[in-house]
Amino acid sequence: MAILEIKHVSKFFGGLAANSDISFHLEQGMIMGLIGPNGAGKTTLFNCITGYYPPSKGEIVFNGRSMNGLQPDTVCKRGMVRTWQKVRPLAKMSVVDNVMVGALCRTNSLKKAREMAMEQVKVVKLEHRADFLAGGLPIGERKKLEVARVLATKPKLLLLDEVMGGLNPAESEEIIQLILDIRKLGITQMVIEHDMKAIMRISDRVVVLCSGEKLAEGSPQEIVNNPEVITAYLGSE
Ligand SMILES: Nc1ncnc2c1ncn2[C@@H]1O[C@H](COP(=O)(O)OP(=O)(O)OP(=O)(O)O)[C@@H](O)[C@H]1O
Ligand SMILES: [Mg+2]
Repeated sequence: MAILEIKHVSKFFGGLAANSDISFHLEQGMIMGLIGPNGAGKTTLFNCITGYYPPSKGEIVFNGRSMNGLQPDTVCKRGMVRTWQKVRPLAKMSVVDNVMVGALCRTNSLKKAREMAMEQVKVVKLEHRADFLAGGLPIGERKKLEVARVLATKPKLLLLDEVMGGLNPAESEEIIQLILDIRKLGITQMVIEHDMKAIMRISDRVVVLCSGEKLAEGSPQEIVNNPEVITAYLGSE
């Protein structure tokens, strides 16, 4: 069954079509890769899906219900949550307190929220940092913290915006393993990444955006062999 349906979504900023008539869907439990050149409209599409921007046209349907007009907090309560390309933890709060902010979307009890947060801190393997101030974490651990915080909201669908951006190969490998672990928990994921090797390894399907339009959709293998995608984004190497 489709967990998310993106139906003819467009988003205009003045005369600029950041998203133009985009349609595709995600099946329950899958990992969808979302790729494309800088400025292709990937982050804008995440913003439309999760309620940060209302789409100018089209509809977002999650679990059979229209999400149009809902605010991000309501979208999150329904089970859909995103991370940010530029991570901004609450610097003066501890790691576990940052993750509690996510958990408080599901409970009013601070005790319960702390327990839920610790669970997710363990999933991302940051137990040893639980009481550290988030502002002091290196970038690789900030990215993990960001993932723990959204996991604490108990999502059904997770949207990860360049969660490997700025990481070294060893750190990226940890995030790849984390994404595969999250899949085992039954959580559907949509992943924006520029690292094609990573996208090839983790994605069941891939959508390519270019200049706001959907250029292609297919299996990772189909995408890397697609001449239009090679010309517009991948290059011939
Ligand atoms: N709030 C906004 N107001 C005006 N223009 C915007 C806004 N947000 C995005 N844009 C424009 O929309 C286009 C798509 O931007 P977007 O951030 O979605 O691209 P992206 O695919 O995520 O790129 P990148 O790979 O660099 O993160 C760009 O031309 C960008 O300048
Ligand atoms: Mg972006």
